[in-house]
Amino acid sequence: MPTFNLNINKKNYTVEADIDTPLLWVLRDKINLVGTKFGCGIGQCGACTVHVNGNAMRSCLLLVSQAESMDITTIEGLSEDGSHPVQEAWKEVDVPQCGYCQSGQIMTASAFLKQNSNPSKSQIRNAMHGNICRCASYNSIEKAVEVAAK
Ligand code: FES
Repeated sequence: MPTFNLNINKKNYTVEADIDTPLLWVLRDKINLVGTKFGCGIGQCGACTVHVNGNAMRSCLLLVSQAESMDITTIEGLSEDGSHPVQEAWKEVDVPQCGYCQSGQIMTASAFLKQNSNPSKSQIRNAMHGNICRCASYNSIEKAVEVAAK
């Protein structure tokens, strides 16, 4: 089985995996970074969102072979203690219900706010619309992104 060198949360990892293994499964099964969730596996739900070179990307669609030489950040690496402004806003607004989609939501929101630190409501809605929440916490999610932007 081939080996791949990955930079994840500012640490280097060497993993063995089939060349077409999605990054999602390398994160979860080989590196035990289980904060990144599996929802659909086909790029439709956003549960698996991580940052790749600072941009939000769905780790179920990125092959491990494509992830070499990229800077990958997972929810575990967004802050050392859960104190990233988006995480703080999530707590302040008390967003989660079942919580399953939240790491993907937070990774999408944090990448978006880096590019647009003063977004309008419609820009927030547009940025977050691809992240599905089966509890339909969309109003709370949008409110938390607004709070994080302040
Ligand atoms: Fe990747 Fe749904 S698991 S988008």
